[in-house]
Amino acid sequence: MPETALGDYTAPPFGRRPLQVVGSAASGAYRLVEVFDPSGVVPMAGQFYMLSAESEWPGSSGRPYLPRAFSVASVDVGADGVTLGFLVHAVGPGTQRIEEVGGGRAGSLLAVGPLGRGFAAPHEVAAGAKGAILIGGGIGVAPLALLRRNLIRLGVPSRVLLGYRDADNAGGLDLFDCSEIKLATDDGHAGHRGRVTDLLERLLAGDDRGSAVVYSCGPPAMLEAVRVMCEEAGVACQLALESPMGCGYGACFGCAVPLREGGYMRLCLDGPVVDGSTIARADAGAEVQ
Ligand SMILES: Cc1cc2nc3c(=O)[nH]c(=O)nc-3n(C[C@H](O)[C@H](O)[C@H](O)COP(=O)(O)OP(=O)(O)OC[C@H]3O[C@@H](n4cnc5c(N)ncnc54)[C@H](O)[C@@H]3O)c2cc1C
Ligand code: FES
Repeated sequence: MPETALGDYTAPPFGRRPLQVVGSAASGAYRLVEVFDPSGVVPMAGQFYMLSAESEWPGSSGRPYLPRAFSVASVDVGADGVTLGFLVHAVGPGTQRIEEVGGGRAGSLLAVGPLGRGFAAPHEVAAGAKGAILIGGGIGVAPLALLRRNLIRLGVPSRVLLGYRDADNAGGLDLFDCSEIKLATDDGHAGHRGRVTDLLERLLAGDDRGSAVVYSCGPPAMLEAVRVMCEEAGVACQLALESPMGCGYGACFGCAVPLREGGYMRLCLDGPVVDGSTIARADAGAEVQ
């Protein structure tokens, strides 16, 4: 795994380890759950952890049997270890269990990670690129929040476009510098009424489009639209894809994503961040399950 200007790859500690929950707060319709990792391993933006609640897993329903993938949204490095923040959108039994542990039931999360490949700095993706355009949708804003902080630390200019369906499906704004975010919402309750890709279209029409790399995470249909727009504009893009993950470390082949030149990649090993030019489509991960 290559080192990048946005952080060095460090192999995760072997096996599943319990991490104490040290914080939990509502973030719009999502919840930011913070855990303390004494291993001190600092993840790169775009990497993920496989998480499960230490107690009551599986629950009385018998589900879920497997841990769930979560992007790391915030990192606070201390003298004794690292505090990791995960933005949780409860959509089913796995995410609900994580949210409940964070939401008051004191406890621990079982974690494996950090896993996968993170984002690379603009100049590592495209020669001459000096800035970044971050475009996120829904819970996909999570890895972009950490990316944005890392870019600020490195002095790389970035513009942030975030899109949500409606207020019931929006959160994570407090993890960004709000004054510099452009918002789009399907129902028009905040920002531009319409798709967040409308905002990207305007930026890509500008004269300086070649000086930026586009970084994106969000629903598969949004990522596919971003991929196509960037390809047509000749702008490099890095996409953090999603695909249902059983193990997170290459054993189950549940996360296979088709490559443009044929064959498949395992997203947990070769992603979740991929160059847009390498994949056939950004919305094909779920189709091969
Ligand atoms: C690399 C990666 C990073 C992720 N980061 C986050 C994060 O930071 N915060 C967060 O809340 N969620 C994140 N997710 C998504 C999260 O892992 C899934 O929502 C979770 O697996 C759903 O589990 P569940 O048991 O709650 O719901 P389930 O009952 O398993 O699913 C509920 C609904 O969501 C759909 N679904 C389940 N998993 C996925 C998936 N991976 N992609 C698309 N649709 C899915 C199902 O088809 C179903 O409609 C990430 C996923 C990946 C692969
Ligand atoms: S999640 Fe098991 S191989 Fe990728």
